[in-house]
Amino acid sequence: MMENNITRREFVKLVKRLLAITGLAALTAPIVAYFYPPKLEEEPSEPVLVGKEEEIPLNESKAVGFGRYPALVVNTPQGLRAYSAVCTHFACLVKWDKDQNAFICPCHDAAFDPIDGHVIHGPTSIPLKSYAVNVINGEIYIGGDQQ
Ligand code: FES
Repeated sequence: MMENNITRREFVKLVKRLLAITGLAALTAPIVAYFYPPKLEEEPSEPVLVGKEEEIPLNESKAVGFGRYPALVVNTPQGLRAYSAVCTHFACLVKWDKDQNAFICPCHDAAFDPIDGHVIHGPTSIPLKSYAVNVINGEIYIGGDQQ
């Protein structure tokens, strides 16, 4: 029978090599990911599931991934509305502010109306991009070719 003996010195060398390879992979992976990002559609061609209706009470909002950028769904007294979270000024991400009843951009303080996305005030005059909203069996879907 053949014995496969490894000396302590050889074992330490092997461990050092494995650690060097692991470290090199940990350093290069983010660089590779930066130059070869995953392909995400700008906006999905299929409807995106937001969640159950009861997850968004009146005057509340929920953010969801919608292709490359997030979208915001808000439950208004006039019904559910969905918008791109990308501000139409310089593309910061707007956030829902329940107290102001508006989407507020943290960068230059633009405010957008939750009913139709129009600009309430701010440096931009372009409304938020809106998406179709459909509720099917109590589940909210946005976007896609639905109307
Ligand atoms: S980027 Fe939103 S107001 Fe300037």
